[in-house]
Amino acid sequence: MAQEKDLQKIFEEKIEKEIKIEPKDWMPDEYRKNLIRQISQHAHSEVVGMLPEGNWITRAPSLRRKVALLAKIQDEAGHGLYLYCAAETLGKDRETLVQELLSGKAKYSSIFNYPALTWADIGAIGWLVDGAAIVNQIMLQKTSYGPYSRGMIRICKEESFHQRQGYEILLTLCRGTEEQKAMAQDALNRFWWPSLMMFGPSDKDSAHSAQSMAWKIKRMGNDDLRQKFIDQTVPQANFLGLTIPDPELKWNEEKQSYDWGQIDWEEFYNVIKGNGPCNKERLAARQAAYDNGAWVREAATAYAKKKAERKTKDAA
Ligand code: 3HC
Repeated sequence: MAQEKDLQKIFEEKIEKEIKIEPKDWMPDEYRKNLIRQISQHAHSEVVGMLPEGNWITRAPSLRRKVALLAKIQDEAGHGLYLYCAAETLGKDRETLVQELLSGKAKYSSIFNYPALTWADIGAIGWLVDGAAIVNQIMLQKTSYGPYSRGMIRICKEESFHQRQGYEILLTLCRGTEEQKAMAQDALNRFWWPSLMMFGPSDKDSAHSAQSMAWKIKRMGNDDLRQKFIDQTVPQANFLGLTIPDPELKWNEEKQSYDWGQIDWEEFYNVIKGNGPCNKERLAARQAAYDNGAWVREAATAYAKKKAERKTKDAA
């Protein structure tokens, strides 16, 4: 028991001194479990997040828009891979993580259970969804777990392009015809509140925030991150000439930030329980991709086995 107490002390000192915890370091089981949960759900979000945008590749209005959208979606696949690899360093294998997604046991970000109905939605996803993800991920660059922090630093480098291409889509529409501007406003109306839900429940209702902050997994709470996103996004909406769908939104001079309305938490918990507009469709698409990709996994496994056998034979 003394040994475990010493190890706990060393762990806490590292956290205190901002020394990254690495895969081979001793860590409390609960720290490991919390990280596997959060990192794998982050990875699932990246992969499921490709689906709403994937529907628009063949319908992009120009070759330039199609190329930018293709590049963004490919980036998201890569982000998913970095994060699955980071989760695997904590001792959980990829197959188990993927099965947890497909069975509905693991979560992914609620936002991806909303449909992308028009081309303006693709702009709103880049601007708002990636914008919210950036606010969260910039904070996560300083997370205490080494592989997660390094993955975030890499991912953040690509995210700003994602947000800018989305914002430019909306700027083009807002400078276009009345119908195009109305399409942009409709997208903002449907994506604003679900984007605020991406930051999770209020910290007072959060199951993990307090412990995640103590272990420096999270460096800012859900409420502060949400407020940061609102404060930076409202001026961008004003520049577009669009109206944020929140009648209580108002600049608070004293606080130097916006006061705003109330999130519909019933909707939030409904969506994360699996009853959102697209939950079933998203999991069905991921299950189909998994089934259709079985032959690739089998070929890769067979090749790796053959290569290992050849290496052993050559060494003999
Ligand atoms: N969608 C789905 N589930 C959510 C959620 C959301 N928006 N917000 C919270 N939850 C879940 C949590 O996972 C937790 O459930 P669990 O115990 O079964 O895992 C429960 O609700 C309580 O929430 P907490 O606030 O206590 O949970 P966390 O401390 O984990 O905070 C979080 C939630 C802020 C989302 C945190 O997990 C986090 O920062 N995750 C990493 C970032 C991430 O996953 N972002 C998702 C978007 S990625 C993306 O958009 C890709 C971009 O490139 C497009």
